[in-house]
This record gives sequence, structure tokens and C-alpha cells, in this order.
Amino acid sequence: MKFAACFVLIAFLSPSLRAQEGAVKTPALTEAAPALKPGLALTFTAGGKSDTRTARLVALEVPASQPATPFLPAGPFAAKWEADIVSDMRAEFRFAAEVQGAVKVVLNGATILEGSARVESPAVKLQKGANKLAVEFTSPAKGDALLRLLWASKEFSWEPVPPTAFQHNVSAADLRTGERVRAGRLLFAELRCAACHEAAALLPARGEGLPELAQDAPQFGELGAKFNEPWLAAWINDPHAIRPHALMPKVFDGKPGQIDERAADLAAYFVSLGARAEGQPLDGALVPQGGALFADFGCIACHTRPDADGKDAHDRTPLAHVRAKWQTPALTEYLKDPAKNFAWSRMPHFRLSDDEAAKLTAYLFLSAKREFPAAPKGDATRGAQLLATSGCLNCHAGLPPTTAPALAATLKTGWTKGCLAPDATARGKAPDFAFTPAQRDALAAFAASGFASLKQDAPAEFAERQIASLRCTACHARDGQASVWSQLENEMAPLQAAAPLEEGEGKPIASTALPQLTWLGEKLQPAWMVEFIAGHGKYKPRPWLIARMPGFAAAADGIANGLALEHGFPLTPAPASALAPEKVRAGETLLGENGGFNCLQCHALGERAATAVFEAPAPNFAYVRERLRKEYFDRWLLQPLRIDPETKMPRFADDDGKTPLTDFFDGKASEQYDAIWQYLQTFKK
Ligand code: HEC
Ligand code: HEC
Ligand code: HEC
Ligand code: HEC
Ligand code: HEC
Repeated sequence: MKFAACFVLIAFLSPSLRAQEGAVKTPALTEAAPALKPGLALTFTAGGKSDTRTARLVALEVPASQPATPFLPAGPFAAKWEADIVSDMRAEFRFAAEVQGAVKVVLNGATILEGSARVESPAVKLQKGANKLAVEFTSPAKGDALLRLLWASKEFSWEPVPPTAFQHNVSAADLRTGERVRAGRLLFAELRCAACHEAAALLPARGEGLPELAQDAPQFGELGAKFNEPWLAAWINDPHAIRPHALMPKVFDGKPGQIDERAADLAAYFVSLGARAEGQPLDGALVPQGGALFADFGCIACHTRPDADGKDAHDRTPLAHVRAKWQTPALTEYLKDPAKNFAWSRMPHFRLSDDEAAKLTAYLFLSAKREFPAAPKGDATRGAQLLATSGCLNCHAGLPPTTAPALAATLKTGWTKGCLAPDATARGKAPDFAFTPAQRDALAAFAASGFASLKQDAPAEFAERQIASLRCTACHARDGQASVWSQLENEMAPLQAAAPLEEGEGKPIASTALPQLTWLGEKLQPAWMVEFIAGHGKYKPRPWLIARMPGFAAAADGIANGLALEHGFPLTPAPASALAPEKVRAGETLLGENGGFNCLQCHALGERAATAVFEAPAPNFAYVRERLRKEYFDRWLLQPLRIDPETKMPRFADDDGKTPLTDFFDGKASEQYDAIWQYLQTFKK
């Protein structure tokens, strides 16, 4: 293991860096009892070295010339997935693989599938319980590497093996090693270590490599016109005491329970710059409506209520301090555009109307209770000097690092002192990031072997990191896990009851039941998804929802493209095959009421409204062409319940793939659905 690590450093790093990294040793792994979780262990091998991480699916698409993982060089690679497939009964399945490269699938010790292009296995038996699966993949000599593992049984036709079918031991040493160095790598970027520690030689050129290295911090300016002085002092004194997941460190080592004088000086300085901006008094009558929006827009899935305090089972961001922090006009403006001064803010953009923003401001401001004791009177002149010397502007204004030792020097002494010291005495003048022992361990593992990985990244990993960091599963179910939002009915009920919605034709009818995230990479065209996640979508696919998808502009591109690649799909769809006029004509009839499936009772078609929308509202067919991939369309129509067990979308074909409409294509469902697809490709609004 040690030998392998040395080998890679030599192959990978410049000579000067090699010497520096030597000082930090990879910490030994702590003991961990075996623990089973969904998903698989995925080991990549390239250039004589390997790297293991978790995976949701047996699928990948790696564009030629890109590395399969940030920890290995680009070029030819091998990949091996390992997990148990858990079956709740003894049953017969078939497996298939779509491959660019070569694949071998071993189930319970027997090779069931081997080859290239499209390969199918004979029928194989899965035992009740755990079945050992190993999938070995080798990238092709030229071009993109691609793999998707599918399965089928008597009960269902071909589909990607879903994430919920797999379980793996998350305590396995190679997996923990790979996940730990990834955690350290992410901390290094998110906590902006290189903002204070000069590290140019270790970092990629601006805009390249690990995207999170580009994360900014809020721009200063008018802080005194936005925030109140006691809050400013308390935040600068100790951000984690206000927000558990703050990325900003505690810069001054004041006495516990007291506001450091320097924090008070900085607060006084900020307040001396901007005039207080008194807004109109807030209208208390808006509070109930704002509270209902807080529930119905899903704010509550990421935030505890402003009148709540104490620990939260869902680890949400508290808002109890907003009244003490904000001046009201600034709060309204922030809600309308949270990324205005901070592009990488984790607070998404809801495209709130003035009216909605006013209601939410009233609710938040008039319900929040937390207060901050007046800080010792600060000295604005001293504050101005501190701003220049305390490293604040390294993060907040992108000033070049000068205040701390160069990173290369910190590596020579080992990463145990300063910022990484476990207690205040050993920390000295370094800032306090409130690290847990596991985070310190991860940073050390990263320092020992991970620096080269900053210069490249794998889009599939970026997507997974951001989905976690931005809390997409606060609102969306994924991989069989319910969303946070769907578990908050008790908390939401009083807020919604205080401002009941009007009911009636054309009014929104539901807030929950959002699309799940599980299959996005297979379902949606990346180009459409980028726009939609960024919050630039031109329409609402589900106009019946009160909820709306908020915009996450900074990460949208990477998430959408990363998901497609994670699911084994290239970013540019294969050129569409030519449309057959007789199929297009058949498709139009098949959608309709006369001789067709009457899809149009639920689905609108352009300007034509659905005929029975209250049955089960469904997206307008006009969007199919730009939204969906054909693979998903086919699979969804054949077996909607396999994808979403709760959906009201009916299944029209029987187990043999036949429908009652025998006038078309001998009742063959796949042909009929293809006809509908072809018609929808020609449909213009
Ligand atoms: C706000 C600026 C700032 C940021 C951001 C920062 N550091 Fe530091 N770091 C310092 C200062 C100041 C010292 C102490 C220097 C001294 O004692 O003279 C220090 C000391 C250290 C030391 C001890 C160096 C030695 O040899 O004594 C290490 C290791 C270190 N930092 C690592 C990190 C890591 C890892 C990160 C990111 C998680 C980080 N730092 C982020 C300012 C910063
Ligand atoms: C996907 C999670 C998510 C959702 C949904 C969300 N927020 Fe946030 N919000 C955050 C995070 C994280 C922050 C912390 C700021 C940052 O990272 O820049 C934040 C910050 C805030 C702040 C500033 C807090 C402070 O300390 O000043 C307010 C106010 C706020 N959100 C209100 C709302 C409202 C109102 C909604 C619903 C319309 C909402 N949020 C929806 C994640 C979310
Ligand atoms: C290592 C980078 C870093 C350093 C150093 C740093 N900050 Fe921050 N600061 C942040 C980030 C990131 C945020 C956004 C909130 C969060 O996630 O913690 C923030 C938020 C703030 C805010 C709230 C701004 C807003 O618009 O909501 C203030 C005020 C602030 N910092 C002041 C300071 C001062 C004063 C110093 C120096 C004593 C300082 N910061 C040092 C990274 C840093
Ligand atoms: C505040 C709740 C909320 C959060 C947080 C959220 N979403 Fe959504 N999302 C929605 C709603 C509501 C819709 C349905 C919108 C519609 O169809 O009109 C949606 C729809 C989507 C869609 C379209 C799916 C489809 O089948 O049409 C994608 C893609 C998506 N979200 C991705 C994400 C990603 C990625 C994240 C995290 C970065 C995220 N969402 C976070 C509420 C949320
Ligand atoms: C009883 C109502 C109903 C009928 C009839 C119906 N659907 Fe659906 N359909 C739905 C629902 C509900 C959804 C999922 C809505 C969601 O994702 O929020 C859906 C989703 C879809 C989607 C995915 C659309 C997208 O943009 O995400 C397609 C494609 C689709 N249906 C095609 C059809 C076709 C073709 C027919 C007729 C053969 C049909 N549906 C009949 C209710 C229906």
C-alpha cells in the first residue's frame, strides 16, 4: 500500500512537491465494524494505481481523454463494481450490458456475461437474500468509455439495475480510504485553505481542476446598511455559534462565551461605513401568508422555523437570528437574489415576486426570536486596520494570500499544528474551523496523497458532491429515500392552516409529490436540465404545484452533465433516426380519444388542455422533445410503476408487451410507443 502510494507520487507530482508532501503521513484507519448501505464499491485502476469510491449504479460514461477519477491519470483504465444484489425472493433474472469497452459480469462466482457492444446473459437464478456481484470493465483503446448494466425478469422488462437493488460494506478499508481522501479534498476547497496559505504551485490554473476551488465568499459593501452591529460582532467572533455549517472560520481566539474585542472593532468599522436603511414598518397581517409560503415553497425543508431553537433531527439551517441580523429592506432584497453578492451561496434562487418576498420577510422577521447581547463598544479605526491584517479580505475580496505560512511550508511540519491543532493553545494565531476529529483525519489523508487530484475532476463526482452540499434531497426523494420535506407534515400543518389556500379550477392543487431525483441522468436531456437547475427554465413542467424548483446557478452545469455521465449517457444525444411518416400519423391517433389510449385526458398537448386534469395532472407533451431521452420514454411507458410506485400514470401494455389496440402494429406496445414518440418529435406548439 505504502509502496503504491510512493509510486504514484513519483509518476504524478513535480519533484519539489514530492519532497514537501513527504512530511504528512496518511493516518492509519480507525476501527470500524462492518456496516451495510445501499450502493456499490467501485474501484478504478490506471497507471498501476487504484482508487475506490461508492457508486449508485453500475454505469459510467467517461469521455475520451478525461480521467475516470480525480485520483488517477487520464487514459486507459479498468473499473470493478462490487456489491450484493439483494433479492426478496428466489427468482429468475436476465442481465444485459451496453458497452463501449469490454465487460465481464460475475454473479455468485459464475461468469454470466462477457463481451462488448450489447451483451445479454441467459436466465440466471438469484437466491433469496444477498447475491455476490462483481462487474469488471476495461475502457476501449480509443473513444469514450461507456457501460450500463440492465436487468429484466418475468415481472418487468429491461431497466438499469436500480440503486436500491445493491448493498455493500461501507467499512471496507479500500473504500474508506478513497472516501476519506475525497472528504479532505473537498474540505480543502470549501474552507478555502489556499486563500491564506500561498499554494500556487500545488493548484491548477484558475477555472481548471476541482470546480469547488473557485468558490467565493460574500462580497463586502454596505454591511452596515444590511446588518446590525451586535450580530456582526457575534458572527465575526464565532460563525459556528450562529450557523452550524458555516464555512467561515473563527478568526479570533477570544475567551469562550465572550465577544473578542477585535470582532467588536470590525463590527464598529463596518457600521461606520454604511447608513442604516430603515424600511417601511412590516405589516403583521402578512405573517400567516408568509408562514404558509415558508411551508409550501419548501423553505422548511432546509431551514428550521424562525421561531424554533435547539437541535434539529434534519440538520437544517437555523433562521432564529434573522431579526437580530438583518435590516428589513436588505432581507427582502436578499431573498429575491441570494447569489447577488455570493455566487456560490448554498441558498437557492426562488424567483420570488415582490409580493411573495414581502410576505416571507414579514414572517421571518416578526417570528424570529434570537437576540445578541450588545458587544463591547468597538473602535472603528482599529477595525479598519484589523480588516487589512486578519485575512478577512483573502476570502472576501480574493486578495492574494500573505498572512499565513505558505502551504508548502505547512506540509513540511506536518498537518498537526495551527489550523489543524485539536485545541486552542496549540492553534496559536491560526483560525478555528471547528473541525471534528474525522475532518482532521481526512485533511491529513488528503495532504499525504491527494494534492495532484486538485488539478482534475470527474463530473459524476462533482454532481454527487453538490447534490449533498446543496441538499437537493431536502425536497426530492432519491434512491428509495423519502425527502426531508415529505416528513414535515406535522410542522407544516399549523403554518398552512393559518392561511388556507383558495380551492378551485386552475388553482394549484398540491405542494408535495415532486419528481424524484433517482433517474434524472437517464430521464432528461442535459441541455434542458442545465437551464432548469440554474433556474432559467422558461416554463414550469408541473404548473399545478405551488412549489417551484429554485435555481442553483453556480453548480447547474456540472450537476446536469455529471448526472448524465454517472448514468452512462453521453452529453450529446445520439443523432435521432429518421422519422417514418406512417408512424408519425399513427402516433397522433394513438394519443387521442378516438381509437387511441386517450393520453390527452391527463396530458395537455401544446395549447390543447388536458380533458380531465383533476384526474392526475401530468406534464404537457409539447415539452417531451426537448426534455426527455428516448430510453427513459420507452421504459416509462412500458412500466411507469417500476420507476415511480406512487404514480397515477397508467400502464397500457400487458406482461407480454401487448396493448388492446390491435389495429396498430399488431398491438405491439413498443412499436406503438415509438409511434407516439415520433409524433411528439414533430409536434410544434
Ligand atoms: C484566514 C486565513 C487562514 C485560512 C483560511 C487557513 N489558514 Fe491555516 N493558518 C493561518 C494562520 C494565521 C496560521 C498560523 C500561523 C502562525 O502561527 O504564525 C495557520 C497555520 C496553519 C498550519 C500550521 C502551520 C505550521 O507549520 O505551524 C497548518 C497546517 C494550516 N494552517 C493548515 C490549514 C488548512 C488545511 C486550511 C484549510 C482547512 C487552512 N490552514 C486555512 C491562516 C489560515
Ligand atoms: C436547498 C436548501 C434551501 C432552501 C430550499 C432554502 N434555503 Fe434559505 N438558505 C440555505 C442555506 C444553506 C443558507 C445559508 C447561506 C449560504 O450558504 O450562503 C440559507 C440562507 C437563508 C437566509 C439567510 C440566513 C442568514 O443567516 O442571514 C434566509 C433569510 C433564508 N435562507 C430564507 C429562505 C427562505 C424564505 C426560503 C424559501 C423561499 C429558503 N431560504 C429556502 C438553504 C436553503
Ligand atoms: C476562509 C475564508 C473566510 C475568511 C478568512 C473570512 N470569511 Fe467571512 N465568510 C466566509 C464565507 C464562506 C461566508 C459565507 C457564510 C458561510 O458559509 O460561512 C462568510 C460570511 C461573512 C459575513 C456575512 C456576510 C453576508 O453577506 O452574509 C461577514 C460579515 C463576514 N464573513 C466577515 C468576515 C470578517 C470580518 C472576516 C475577518 C475577521 C472574515 N469574514 C473572514 C469566508 C471567510
Ligand atoms: C425547495 C425544494 C427543491 C429543492 C431544494 C430542489 N428542487 Fe428540484 N424541483 C423542485 C420542484 C417543486 C420541482 C418540480 C417543478 C416543476 O416541474 O414545475 C423540481 C424539479 C426538478 C427537476 C425536473 C425534474 C423533472 O422530471 O421534470 C430537476 C432536474 C431538479 N428538480 C433537480 C434538482 C437538483 C439537482 C436540486 C439540488 C441542486 C434540486 N432539484 C433541489 C423543488 C426543489
Ligand atoms: C391518468 C392520467 C394519465 C394518462 C391517461 C397518461 N398519463 Fe402520462 N403521466 C401521468 C402522470 C401523473 C405523469 C408523471 C407526472 C410527473 O412526473 O409529475 C405522467 C408522465 C408522463 C411522461 C413523462 C413526461 C415528462 O415530461 O416528464 C410521458 C412521456 C407520458 N406520461 C406519456 C404518456 C402517454 C404516451 C400516455 C398515453 C399512452 C399517457 N402518458 C397517459 C399521467 C397520465
